[in-house]
Amino acid sequence: MRSLTVIRQAKGEPACHDPFMDNRQAFAYDGCASNPAYTLIPGASVLWHSAFVIVLHGIQRLKRIRLLRMWTCRTLPLIPILGTLLALTLSLHSSQPVTAYAMERTSSPQDAASDQQAQAFVRDLLGKMTLEEKIGQMSQVALNTKQDVPPEELARKGKIGSFLFITDAAEINRLQHIAVEQSRLHIPILFGFDVIHGFRTIYPVPLAMAASWDPAVPEHAQSMAAREARAVGIQWTFAPMVDIARDPRWGRIMEGAGEDPFLGARMAAAQIKGFQGETLGGPDHILACVKHFAGYGAAIGGRDYEEANISDEQLWNVYLPPFKAAIDAGTGSLMSAYLDVNDVPATGNRFLLHDVLREDWKFTGFVVSDWEAVASLTTHGFAKDPEDAAVRAVNAGVDMEMTSHTFRDNLALALRQGLVTQASIDTAVTNILLAKYRLGLFKNAYIDVSRSDAQLVTQEQRDAARHAAIRSSILLRNEHQLLPLGKQVKSIALIGALANSKPDIMGSWSLAGHPSDSVTVLEGLRKRFTPGVQIAYTPGVEIEREQPSIFDPQFSSPKPTLKTEAERNAEFHHAIDLIRSSDVAVLVMGELQSMSGERASRSSLTLPGKQEQLLEAAVATGKPVVLVLLNGRPLNITWASQHVGAILEAWYPGTEGGDAIADLLSGDATPGGKLPVTWPRSVGQVTLYYAHNLTQIPNEPNTRYWDGSSAPLYPFGYGLSYASFSTGSLQLAAPSVRAGAKLNVSIDVANTSARDGDEVVQLYTHQRAGSASRPVRELKGFRRISLKAGEKQTVTLTLDTNDLGFWSPQTHHWSIEPGEFDLWMGNDSTAANHATFSLLP
Ligand code: NOJ
Repeated sequence: MRSLTVIRQAKGEPACHDPFMDNRQAFAYDGCASNPAYTLIPGASVLWHSAFVIVLHGIQRLKRIRLLRMWTCRTLPLIPILGTLLALTLSLHSSQPVTAYAMERTSSPQDAASDQQAQAFVRDLLGKMTLEEKIGQMSQVALNTKQDVPPEELARKGKIGSFLFITDAAEINRLQHIAVEQSRLHIPILFGFDVIHGFRTIYPVPLAMAASWDPAVPEHAQSMAAREARAVGIQWTFAPMVDIARDPRWGRIMEGAGEDPFLGARMAAAQIKGFQGETLGGPDHILACVKHFAGYGAAIGGRDYEEANISDEQLWNVYLPPFKAAIDAGTGSLMSAYLDVNDVPATGNRFLLHDVLREDWKFTGFVVSDWEAVASLTTHGFAKDPEDAAVRAVNAGVDMEMTSHTFRDNLALALRQGLVTQASIDTAVTNILLAKYRLGLFKNAYIDVSRSDAQLVTQEQRDAARHAAIRSSILLRNEHQLLPLGKQVKSIALIGALANSKPDIMGSWSLAGHPSDSVTVLEGLRKRFTPGVQIAYTPGVEIEREQPSIFDPQFSSPKPTLKTEAERNAEFHHAIDLIRSSDVAVLVMGELQSMSGERASRSSLTLPGKQEQLLEAAVATGKPVVLVLLNGRPLNITWASQHVGAILEAWYPGTEGGDAIADLLSGDATPGGKLPVTWPRSVGQVTLYYAHNLTQIPNEPNTRYWDGSSAPLYPFGYGLSYASFSTGSLQLAAPSVRAGAKLNVSIDVANTSARDGDEVVQLYTHQRAGSASRPVRELKGFRRISLKAGEKQTVTLTLDTNDLGFWSPQTHHWSIEPGEFDLWMGNDSTAANHATFSLLP
């Protein structure tokens, strides 16, 4: 007897209504049942279900293990008990049979053999090491800050595992020679650097690359970046950042893939592959470091470094999946985050660093703390002093300490006092040495310095950066097909300080980039359009960060040159005059590179300075206005979205940004990216994300606030093209599918225009009923396709029903729950093409 009855809906009637939908999209939902079809669970079943949950919970608590919450199969010893309970429960209450599933990496026999070799080598080496040398391996020193011990001495005495922030090839080689030739055990040093979106050639910021909805873009970009980094001797990057971010006030939103765990997981895996290659140790590749484990993107109020309070449900279903994907993709290292997660600092968090990471996910790489995060365990009011901080970090599972030196200063004493064990230290050192071994550093730690320079900013790098920038851009608006600029345009007024700034087009985390390599928008447009088209440039307004950025000493934006109010007014009016005398105005606006990134959070999302006033004055001239955005987060462009002719989101596109933007404006290339984040109308709507739950009165989207809409300005997955597309109806390979199996879903997509272009087909699902409320929609598949003018294609996406699994806050375990599902396919998260399917046990 099935106690859970799903009342089928009338054909064509969607299961639910998204209250965040704006009116434009709402038509697709007219007629939605106000009480979506739902479940009946007889009281007895509820009792059995609850009893089961309580017993299960008890077992978990008692044994302090988190077996069923995880992806991995450590359940063997408990299977008989759980099986009996499950069978008993299901016989009376068969509503939600539960299928635990595992997502393990598979390893080949060669992997196993070389792993044994690596283990044997490291075991032997470890046996020869003194305690001081071991603690040395666990220490990382930043060479952009003043040191008490000279780096040569650290290298010579084997008291260092890694240096960060040296980018000079000769210097890296010099220190490496000292370590390998003069230290007692000849252990090479790992040189780390933040290769986040390029090394010398700068690629679009990671949020932009996620906007390509094409994992090949970040994969290729990161492999190119790895090649440059390796050419100067850097073997380790602190990337990818895979923190899910749903608050655009948070400056570091631009370093990740946005708000969605599914998209985030795909981008995470692609980047690991790009950095590391197929297997660690390949030429021209570097060690990846997935970060910041975990929950940094949920910093409250979007304030950088603030604590995060994340429910278990959100942690498992939203924040952890991209980390799991990076680990499955083989990341060699992981960085623990700065912040408190549910009151336990991530860097002293044994649940995260040991229970989840090592026990459940079987992570075999090493863990480095974030910058001074070990020492700051005392600041959090967690550790009582630096020794306690070191002890807590090591016991939680941190293998290497970044920049603070609590390990160096305290671990030997802590070991004598029995606060840490020799085994913990040996495990940490083993993890680090294994990474060095797998990278091939024990065979060859040096680089050919004479070849380094020739490998930087090559034409191949530039081409790849330009391609990535083009694919990352999003067309947000294009009234009357203002873009691409037609042949009738004979003069362009190019306005905006950002249009002529070499550092700002690169974006934050471009510390090894040379602004002189960058192509600005002004340069790109001049190259592309002149002499046929006249380009008149002026900044119009300048912008400046109110407080300096931490990166200013290493990488800064040009300072404003207009000193007085009179000068500023004159420049403003000059810009408007130029617009009046041109055929079209291109306004390049957004944020300085230092306004996004670390310690670059904001309390508003407006265009900084007087950019909005300039934009409004430009539109008031009556001339066609194109707004090109250079930024790392959604900004408040609500006014622009109604009044400006065209809006091109170019993000921080990198070294080749100016050329890429010229390609896009001229029509040599067509934008095809889609939003990896929901774009709010105003900061007051934050946090706003598409995968929210349906609650009370879902059909009244505009009642959530009495003073404004709760619909986003642009939904997740949204983006236009110069081409136009239509979609046919959805075809499911079958009306039902077994849990764990795959379901093919097809849709016809036609390019109905006379231009070639790209569309991103997106697949969303919704679980109608289960042990917990599930989000109104969740992305479960996507593919970016290119269609020639007039071309039609049937796109088949494969829904892996394993991806329907979730961690249930009721059962406290990860399961796929059979039942009825909605499915949509289309070109953004409001897609109207709808079908249902049954997921069978
Ligand atoms: C602190 C940042 O949080 C982290 O992302 C970065 O990798 C390190 N500094 C090293 O620069």
